[in-house]
Amino acid sequence: MIDPALYTRRRARLAALMANGVAVVRTAPERLRNRDSSYPFRFDSYFHYLTGFAEPEAVLVLFAGKNPKSILFCREKDMEREIWDGFRYGPEKARETFGFDETFPIAKLDELLPQLLANQAAVFCDVGADPNWDQQVIGWINKVRAQVRSGVSAPGEIRDIRRFLDDMRLIKDEYEIGTMKRAAGISSEAHRRAMRVARPGMYEYQLEAELIHEFRRQGAQAPAYTSIVAGGANSCVLHYVQNDAVLNDGDVVLIDAGCELDGYASDITRTFPVSGKFTGPQRDIYQLVLSAQAAAIAQVKPGNEWEAPHDAAVKVLAQGMVDLGLCKGSASGVIESGDYRRFYMHRTGHWLGMDVHDAGDYKRNGAWLALMPGMMLTVEPGCYVRPGEGVPEKFWNIGVRIEDDALVTDSGCEIITAAAPKNIDDIELLMRD
Ligand code: GLY
Ligand code: MN
Ligand code: MN
Repeated sequence: MIDPALYTRRRARLAALMANGVAVVRTAPERLRNRDSSYPFRFDSYFHYLTGFAEPEAVLVLFAGKNPKSILFCREKDMEREIWDGFRYGPEKARETFGFDETFPIAKLDELLPQLLANQAAVFCDVGADPNWDQQVIGWINKVRAQVRSGVSAPGEIRDIRRFLDDMRLIKDEYEIGTMKRAAGISSEAHRRAMRVARPGMYEYQLEAELIHEFRRQGAQAPAYTSIVAGGANSCVLHYVQNDAVLNDGDVVLIDAGCELDGYASDITRTFPVSGKFTGPQRDIYQLVLSAQAAAIAQVKPGNEWEAPHDAAVKVLAQGMVDLGLCKGSASGVIESGDYRRFYMHRTGHWLGMDVHDAGDYKRNGAWLALMPGMMLTVEPGCYVRPGEGVPEKFWNIGVRIEDDALVTDSGCEIITAAAPKNIDDIELLMRD
């Protein structure tokens, strides 16, 4: 159910941060896939965060200052189009439902925007995100400028609205946390489902189908990103998305998949043996990554800086790589030289929210951000062993990543994806049953 108060509150907060001026925030454009077929429409995250409005062709105009006001431009009701494409709110119903002060048909945007921008000190928008949109905004400002002799003043500044919105989106509110927990629960079940049905001889896309089935069965609208189902050597390809190879007995399969529910992403990786039973070398690498993840998760607590979980994971991984004969020398030497990057070449996490790699800074004024309650991040160390000279052959083509979604709490963190098994015994038990 749409709670207009949630969006009204967010707009009021944004207006307070802007102090003065007017924000113009549009939703995403519809995109053609080929000829008459469009990609499934996905609203712009910033726009949806401020409005809850999911239709295409919509623009929010938000006035800050003494008398804050929100205006929505949206598609008009149109019986003919609604017979073909389905329900549209139309301006009147949108105003009542979403708590806007005023609404207008989107067809009036070009006519009304120059009037709305007149005498405003600054225009806020997502500068640089889309050159066409930038041009449109500049066009409206120029229209105001053309009238200065009649006594109106044109906005003197174009400012980036995202610096405020990114900060707001970094700390999740109760509604967001609830939605993200539900998304995480669905994705966890999807991973369990994949573990249960996996068998040697299946194709990667058949496991992908199981994931999508579970997402949709439980009401998630889409995968939050293209699912990675990577068996054997493919497990060492970080962004493998072909998902068309056969799954062989004796190989691991790495699945990185999460659903999007009501605009919020989840992001889980699990790695397990296709046969249901880890081999010795698979166990070694797996247990190492799991220990690295535990060390990283222990660092996810308020006051710790963003980099602390990554540093903790790298320390454990480097020691393990030395112990397993993947790297030579000491753990500290391997960290110093960066030699561990041959097997661990990505970061240990990212912000998570409406976007899978969510909005928000990681560093400010040269310092890593400190973790705060309400932040949501992934913790996803890995170890990927490609065949190579001097690399023990028993580890070749074992790629392991273990990824969970963590909510920073007052005292530490809550792993909201814990329902997806990750201990070796739990995985083997689930696959056996
Ligand atoms: N699935 C994208 C990521 O893990 O960052
Ligand atoms: Mn991730
Ligand atoms: Mn992922």
